[in-house]
Amino acid sequence: MDIEAQKRAAGEAAIEFVDDKMIVGVGTGSTVKYFIDALAKIKQRIDGAVSSSEQSSKLLREHGIPVLDPNSVGEIPLYVDGADECDPHRCLIKGGGAALTREKILVAVAKKFVCIVDVHKCVEVLGKFPLPIEVIPMARSHVAREIVKRGGQPVWRQGCVTDNGNWILDVHGLQITDPVKLESEWNQIVGVVTVGVFAQRSADVVLVGDGRRFGRG
Ligand code: A5P
Repeated sequence: MDIEAQKRAAGEAAIEFVDDKMIVGVGTGSTVKYFIDALAKIKQRIDGAVSSSEQSSKLLREHGIPVLDPNSVGEIPLYVDGADECDPHRCLIKGGGAALTREKILVAVAKKFVCIVDVHKCVEVLGKFPLPIEVIPMARSHVAREIVKRGGQPVWRQGCVTDNGNWILDVHGLQITDPVKLESEWNQIVGVVTVGVFAQRSADVVLVGDGRRFGRG
């Protein structure tokens, strides 16, 4: 099965978690695009969506799916999103599409987080994919220096402005053996908005494009 077919399979498999009258949390990326396509086919069954990016909001609206403000919906029953890497404990690296902060907010308000990936995203230890960190623009150099002190090699993703008006540093050279600790400690660096490790709240279920699934539910 090629990668595109795997992304489609994972995206379509996530539809089984959608119940009638749900407000569905929708992430960002090329795998989620297949989930949005599948969601459009059953759009009459759901009450709407909340989205982690302008890009996904646009796609949802083009399909006629109402996009709601997360502030007006409270807790959401389900959030479906991709990942850049996924370890055996369902801890993730996310943010390759620069949407990590809104993604982490939707994960925080979701009862169930279903992650959809192709097989290449599954790793034993996180870190080969450069770890995205969203930073306040004026703190870019400060955050970069702090990361170097902690053993990372930050690279400024030039030209990239997040939906929140911030910048991204991609951190190379990491082997993240304790993702919960790294997430908690690096989030404390002044000027960091969000670290793209999703470990304190990992995925509840991971659907892999080759048919494997792991996690609760
Ligand atoms: C967006 O910021 C990311 O977290 C995406 O979820 C991640 O990059 C996966 O994207 P693809 O499905 O396009 O690989």
